[in-house]
Amino acid sequence: MTNILLSGSILSADFARLGEQIHTAQEAGIDWIHVEVMDGQFVPNITMGPFIVETCRRITNLPVDVHLMIEKPEQMIDAFAIAGATTISVHIENTPHIYRTLQHIRSLGCHPGVVLNPGTPASSIADVLHLVDMVLVMTVNPGSSGQKFIMNTLPKIKQVHDMIETSHSNGMIEVDGGVTVDTLPLALREGARIFVTASAIFNYAGGIASGIHSLRGAAAL
Ligand code: DX5
Repeated sequence: MTNILLSGSILSADFARLGEQIHTAQEAGIDWIHVEVMDGQFVPNITMGPFIVETCRRITNLPVDVHLMIEKPEQMIDAFAIAGATTISVHIENTPHIYRTLQHIRSLGCHPGVVLNPGTPASSIADVLHLVDMVLVMTVNPGSSGQKFIMNTLPKIKQVHDMIETSHSNGMIEVDGGVTVDTLPLALREGARIFVTASAIFNYAGGIASGIHSLRGAAAL
């Protein structure tokens, strides 16, 4: 069975019970906590900032996987690193000095990640693959949870996988958006190993633990 990492996105968590829900997910075996940072400019939603990363740090010792869907992400990296981020991922589409930005993330002791929106070609990250520990391939248009997985992104996952293989990068592929028991195996087959999931666990009818166990089961098929 291929080892996968599940990164639970608190975008769908009940914030009135955030600590309890993170503990439930941790006890059920979630690997990372994923924090979706949105500014209402780069994506049509406003969510959370460094304060929530600090809060997650007080709740759990799991890695905190921060995804910056904001304009001028380079201006906020230090704040998220200080708040306790483990991984900080920035979009290739809106980070003109991506090379320097990824180097800076690593200089702060965080793992750097680069993110591709559904319409952005894999080739755009060729020159920075050696700088990252993770490539996040968006499988929905960023901005909200509960969307449908965009099947057209599957070939891109394979392309990124092959680029990583030939570039001798240490990067792992993360996918984000519409990850369910049906779509997880499809992305896994193309080379994804880290799966961001919000509604498939925090809105799962059978509860958070069952949602996590069902996704793990889907990876074992
Ligand atoms: C971007 C967000 C969502 C979210 C995943 O909009 O990054 O993709 O984390 O939400 P689900 O798992 O519900 O598709």
